[in-house]
Amino acid sequence: MNAPVEGFSKLTKAEKIDWITKNYTQNPTTAKQLLERYWNPEEAVQKLHDEFIENTLSNYYLPFAIAPNFLINGKLYAIPMAIEESSVVAAASKAAKFWSDRGGFKTKILGTEKVGQVHFIYTGDYKKLEAFFEEIKPQLLASVSTITQKMEKRGGGVKEIALRNFSEKIQGYYQLHCTFETLDAMGANFINSCLEQFAKTLKEKASSYSGFTTEEKDLEVVMSILSNYVPNCLVKAEVSCKISDLDEGDISGEVFAQKLVRAVDIAKAEPYRAVTHNKGIMNGIDAVVLATGNDFRAVEAGIHAYAAKDGHYSSLTHASIENDVFRFWIEVPLALGTVGGLTSLHPMVKLALEILQEPTARELMQIVAVAGLAQNFAALRSLVTTGIQKGHMKMHLLNMLNQLGASEHEKKQLVTYFKDHTVTNASVKEALERIQSK
Ligand code: MEV
Repeated sequence: MNAPVEGFSKLTKAEKIDWITKNYTQNPTTAKQLLERYWNPEEAVQKLHDEFIENTLSNYYLPFAIAPNFLINGKLYAIPMAIEESSVVAAASKAAKFWSDRGGFKTKILGTEKVGQVHFIYTGDYKKLEAFFEEIKPQLLASVSTITQKMEKRGGGVKEIALRNFSEKIQGYYQLHCTFETLDAMGANFINSCLEQFAKTLKEKASSYSGFTTEEKDLEVVMSILSNYVPNCLVKAEVSCKISDLDEGDISGEVFAQKLVRAVDIAKAEPYRAVTHNKGIMNGIDAVVLATGNDFRAVEAGIHAYAAKDGHYSSLTHASIENDVFRFWIEVPLALGTVGGLTSLHPMVKLALEILQEPTARELMQIVAVAGLAQNFAALRSLVTTGIQKGHMKMHLLNMLNQLGASEHEKKQLVTYFKDHTVTNASVKEALERIQSK
């Protein structure tokens, strides 16, 4: 067993690589070479990446791709996606093309409110706490004026501070539940700075409030942190068309629309399916969130909580047929930024935002929601018609061939061969062996 390491973060990069490869890999030389091969040849770029996090040894690549032809509110976008899963970008592009021929995507921002909370314990009389809170509210707001000044100039800032009583759930537990408008910034740092100042002011004012007993004056701040649950930072994206415009091959538009509505109904009724249904949506959402340097963990956490907002986990998308019109839409909470964070640092993120025509955070919310809706449409379309494996395995073919060590020439031959043959692990292996034995 390896011994724990002391002061690892203080070692140089070379020393860290030495230590990890010697202690945790079978072949330190190969591992070291691999880590070094993934460095960026440009020193400045590598340094930038090294400094994003601690203990950086190398870079971890994901493909960066484009799904073109997204017509959103009449404007054409090519959407950058960072994702490893074979069929996602192809599916998004296919859905984009399909809907650009049918009027495109329409989107609407339903809210942009962010949330943060100061969690505290107060063991006294609630009425007194309420009176205290009302009295100090202007002082709480004033105490963050240096933090909010710039944001306010641009039209954002703190929207509201409310006192919330959770003492029936946890003895003495209350919150300052605060809402914010952070414009084009995701706002985590801004919100957390405001919250920590609110907490300080709250504690300070309580300690000298004449209406409190000595014990009440000693309220305890447990923590101050933004919430990634943002049900009022919400965007809607929608497509619609006459059901006859959905006619395709040997399946009528009417039957196809009914199948799609039924698939969505199943995801609404049943959590096992809902989770996979929403996972497909997240294939699109996460890929754009990641490409644009946003926090996909925050987005994931907030979206899944939203999917369960009615007491059970359900579909994020909805579908209906009314008067021969098929409608398919999504409503998702998305706290995104197009300034701050990685957006002005990571060269690929800057490029992704440039490709998206330098969107505002509101525009990015709409683009991301569209990517999620498109992905869900593409997945359901395959699932209720051909089945998912046909397209998925086709896209996975190159991964399989790479794994089997096929040469470029063999890959080319087999991609052609599998245009009209079924892709399975066995069939690919067999076909490769066949051409290799010739
Ligand atoms: C695979 O990444 C995503 C799907 O499973 C989504 C779905 O089932 O709706 C195809």
